[in-house]
Amino acid sequence: IPVDPFVLTVFGATGDLARRKLLPALFHRDLAGQLPQRASIIGASRRVMSRGQFLDFARQALVDHVPATELSGPELQRFLDRLNYVVLDAEGDEGWRDLAELVAPQSDLIHVHYLATAPSLFQPICERLSRHGMAAGNARLVVEKPIGKNLESARLVNAAIGAVFPEDRVYRIDHYLGKETVQNLMALRFANALFEPLWNSGHIDHVQITVAESLGVEERAGYYDTAGAMRDMVQNHLLQLLCLVAMEPPASLDADAVRDEKLKVLRALKPIDELNAGQLTVRGQYRAGASRGGAVPGYLEELGSTDSATETFVAVKAEVANWRWASVPFYLRTGKRLASRVSEIVIGFRPVPHSMFMPAAGPVSPNRLVVRLQPDEGVKLWLMIKDPGPGGIRLSLVPLDMSFAEAFNVRNPDAYERLLLDVVRGNQTLFMRRDEVEAAWRWVDPILEAWRATSERPKPYTAGTWGPSAAIALIERDGRTWLDDGA
Ligand code: BG6
Repeated sequence: IPVDPFVLTVFGATGDLARRKLLPALFHRDLAGQLPQRASIIGASRRVMSRGQFLDFARQALVDHVPATELSGPELQRFLDRLNYVVLDAEGDEGWRDLAELVAPQSDLIHVHYLATAPSLFQPICERLSRHGMAAGNARLVVEKPIGKNLESARLVNAAIGAVFPEDRVYRIDHYLGKETVQNLMALRFANALFEPLWNSGHIDHVQITVAESLGVEERAGYYDTAGAMRDMVQNHLLQLLCLVAMEPPASLDADAVRDEKLKVLRALKPIDELNAGQLTVRGQYRAGASRGGAVPGYLEELGSTDSATETFVAVKAEVANWRWASVPFYLRTGKRLASRVSEIVIGFRPVPHSMFMPAAGPVSPNRLVVRLQPDEGVKLWLMIKDPGPGGIRLSLVPLDMSFAEAFNVRNPDAYERLLLDVVRGNQTLFMRRDEVEAAWRWVDPILEAWRATSERPKPYTAGTWGPSAAIALIERDGRTWLDDGA
């Protein structure tokens, strides 16, 4: 079903995000027939180029990121016809009138302003949108993370945005919320009667959330060195996943019903500060090693520096201190240049209270539920079964395995496809509310403080491994193990 007609302005239209994600996502939705005839996209950026040059840029972006078979029809031209371009100085006057003139005649459409820019430009862009009459009415603002680099700066960014756009028209993207399997977590929990009765400390022993990347920081080292894995991944993506696992069932999928529940989880996170950060957190930084069969440089070499204490790996033992989850550890870990690209959530259930099987049957392993986000989306429920055969009973842990690719013969849309259309639809459920972002920082800040206060450096790990050995010790101290790739 097509969405309502819209005009979407992408600020930072010649940047990496627009090239890799936004333009391909919009093209795919156009291909699926979801963009109405009057939908148009305006690229805005400081870079001086003509509309024709921007179309060339967009065409190349699609060639690089969309399978060739999907670009062979007339749809490519139809999509390019929707594009326009404005040279614009986000902090000056140039271009704003041109933009306003392009947008003004379309006052009956939904206006979306997507800030795919450095966060330092959020405030000047909002002010100018307001000054040129483009923030009023139904106009919506989309902002990318990072929202600040701590609680204080996040508040300033949110206040600057809030001075122009009311909260119900602000869409803070966390693209993990647009991933199919992440939304499936809600379906799994709340559309099945099977899990929710067990979804508490009485039956769940622990939770693991892993977002492992095999790539290094690549050409983003400049940004990354000011952020680190805690700000880049944990403050947003991993905490959002934790919220979806831990939240109480919302009464509906209404944006605030869901976000209220996530906020309660963030507020219930047990504080980690300098008193306990040494026991509950591990940070690491990769050294040269091997990845996917080739030698790869270390973080400092990629950064071109001899010294940096920025972490490229984090492991945290978190706890949601409330009635449902008290004393259930949530082990979080994320890092660059790890052994493989795998993101998954593992729900580890408690062991059976009593085993009636003979020792020769083998151990009775606890059940676990694995929700795999990438690379191959799916859900596995590990169960104990009897090995086939007429002999005595021997037990094995075997997965009930649901691969999305096999179960549904459809292309898995990128997170941005869903999220961009949700903005047009006015659906904020999968976007972070201001208080959520700030609550996440409130938990993260004291950890960053504690790290800053110690003279300890991030622990080195070899590229292509599962991170520093201290991260393994963090969970093994509790008699548990990380379930690496293939659990
Ligand atoms: C981004 C981070 O938010 O998420 C990147 O800034 C990271 O550092 C990326 O690589 C991971 O996203 P995905 O969808 O590839 O898992």
